[in-house]
Amino acid sequence: MRLDNKVAIVTGAARGIGRAIAEKLAAAGAKVYILDINMDLAEATAAELNAQGMNVVAKQCDISNVESTQALANEIIAEEEKIDVLVNNAGITQKLGVLELTEKDWDTVMNINLRGPFFLTQVIFENMMKHRSGSIVNIASLSAERGGKFAGINYACSKGGIVVMTKCLALVGGDYGIRVNAIAPGLIKTEMAKQLQFSTDAIPLGRLGEAEEVGDAALFLASDRSSYVSGTILDLNGGEFMR
Ligand SMILES: NC(=O)c1ccc[n+]([C@@H]2O[C@H](COP(=O)([O-])OP(=O)(O)OC[C@H]3O[C@@H](n4cnc5c(N)ncnc54)[C@H](O)[C@@H]3O)[C@@H](O)[C@H]2O)c1
Repeated sequence: MRLDNKVAIVTGAARGIGRAIAEKLAAAGAKVYILDINMDLAEATAAELNAQGMNVVAKQCDISNVESTQALANEIIAEEEKIDVLVNNAGITQKLGVLELTEKDWDTVMNINLRGPFFLTQVIFENMMKHRSGSIVNIASLSAERGGKFAGINYACSKGGIVVMTKCLALVGGDYGIRVNAIAPGLIKTEMAKQLQFSTDAIPLGRLGEAEEVGDAALFLASDRSSYVSGTILDLNGGEFMR
């Protein structure tokens, strides 16, 4: 699963799942742009990976700011000409009950988890259409499929939107050789999971997932090894939810 001479963008890659994805793609030979709101951490991550011989560039990005994110995407396109892989990973969760949620909470999560990723994708999709190839990987969530009690209804709805966005883009992208897929992780051991209440009792594999395991799935979907896979929502949950 090599990605030599390919350029990838991974959002929210300063830490957690995004970092693991960036690392897998870079280790496979891609030049990887990591876009994150936390520039200090993004730079530290890029430095660590570059010290291991990878080619990683950190860029400051608040995905909820459409204008600046689209401007950054255009800057990267001007530099690279062709973008091969986009991973929409940046996301936040809020542990708020149905009666606690305010309009502001709703908008904050939607803007980061769904609206921002769409408008970044719009710019990259145009570039992929021009070059008639590309792979987009969206990080959804188990909560999009069976509802989310602990992560907040706004979070689950935003991830449900990501699932539908994946299918819509896969339908349009097919004519241009663009594949669009999503990964729906169950609980993965990151800072985000620490905020949530969980038990491993209902997970057949009896443990939480590792960020690297999401990274491996993203690498598969990004690479030509998945050349006939598009519009798929890949469950990555230790068997917690079966279709
Ligand atoms: N950890 C889990 O159990 C789990 C399960 C299902 C889905 N997910 C999804 O996986 C993705 C990554 O989650 P994680 O667990 O690694 O979380 P995390 O909180 O460890 O990392 C999120 C990263 O996104 C960045 N980020 C946050 N807001 C941003 C913004 N406005 N613009 C740009 N970057 C921003 C953060 O700085 C951080 O580097 C998210 O979309 C999350 O919803 C996580």
